[in-house]
Amino acid sequence: MSQPPPDRVGAAPEEARTGHLRNAAEVFGKREGWRLFFAPGRANLMGAHLDYNGGPVMPTTVDRGTYIAIRPRSDRRVILRSVLEEGVGEFELGALPDTSAGRWYDYPLGVLREAHLRAGSDGRGASKGLEVLFGGNLPIGAGLSSSASICVGFALALDALFDLGGGPDAWVGDALQAERGFVGVQCGIMDPFAVGHGRRGQLLWLDCLDRSFQHVPIDASRLAIAVADSGVRRELASSSFNERVAECQAACRALAGPSREVIGREPRTLREVPAEVAASELARLDPVLARRASHVFSELERTFAAREALEAGDPGGFGRRMTESHASLRDAFEVSTPELDHLVAEATAVPGVLGSRLTGAGFGGCTVILLERGAEGELRERLARSYAERFGREPRVDCYTGDEGPRELAVP
Ligand code: GLA
Repeated sequence: MSQPPPDRVGAAPEEARTGHLRNAAEVFGKREGWRLFFAPGRANLMGAHLDYNGGPVMPTTVDRGTYIAIRPRSDRRVILRSVLEEGVGEFELGALPDTSAGRWYDYPLGVLREAHLRAGSDGRGASKGLEVLFGGNLPIGAGLSSSASICVGFALALDALFDLGGGPDAWVGDALQAERGFVGVQCGIMDPFAVGHGRRGQLLWLDCLDRSFQHVPIDASRLAIAVADSGVRRELASSSFNERVAECQAACRALAGPSREVIGREPRTLREVPAEVAASELARLDPVLARRASHVFSELERTFAAREALEAGDPGGFGRRMTESHASLRDAFEVSTPELDHLVAEATAVPGVLGSRLTGAGFGGCTVILLERGAEGELRERLARSYAERFGREPRVDCYTGDEGPRELAVP
């Protein structure tokens, strides 16, 4: 079977849609019977590493994401392929593996298992085999949530194909359980939630403590959101992400006693540690745990302040919190890299840039930049020049508009 050219990172939506259908026909050698689904990626502007600490986050969807072409088979074989990744996943519906294989298709396989469980014993669920091709125009492993985009998009596709009767909350649940329970990344709820509930022209305000959310408008006639890709890739599962989650949990346990005295119970997350305990006990913690907790406590304050600034018509105040957030991620949470620090320092020196920070887990990937419209040209030019001087290559810089969320696309 010939391998078609990969879907192109950054390709415009229409080109990506038609290109992906062509690829599906070629990879599987079948032209008829395809349905096509899309789920966006996301960029998080505020609330870094707060989701698994019970705090609020402020992501937005981007108009690049995962395209999934899917076609039922007459037998019970499931074939998962990607134009962006090596390796083919092949399984029998009645005998899906119980453990992940360390391959890209662990993500959709985890979702397939969850969708089956959700369908329960009432006879629904994936009853026929499938041929599936994943691809898209989102950089992978760059902090734009390519994995949640794959998982939420595939949960939607399974729902639509097998009439499972779910909706965004069910897709978010399947995606989260696939990543945590099957792939083994202890990620928070932000990424699938942002992909599943994002809206064009809005930031999502998601309070991860009780999962309540609202949409906060962003004035797109005045403001733009850019993403600069350092080109440094990290594997989320094998990175220090799980270590950071464990450190935050350890800090929370260490603060449980003094917190109980104030609130009458043990906090489940650092968000629930009372401010007076945070102020008086931080210095007593192990130094590494103290640094991690201090990022979480200061980021909580910054995120509430950033929302207030945006709602008060002060995007500059929002942007300032983003840049302060980066300093905290660099110095206290220690998830930045020299490349990301450089991109933030250079971007924030451009007139019209309101703020910038790393987005996603860190350890590589992208920075997100909030800027006034009209500043895009100088931003691109400065990042390209300074990054090439220091690191010997130009970073990819894209301006994104938001996206309306996961959906089925028309097949011509
Ligand atoms: C990754 C995780 C998210 C979140 C961010 C950091 O993207 O998947 O759950 O913790 O890192 O804010």
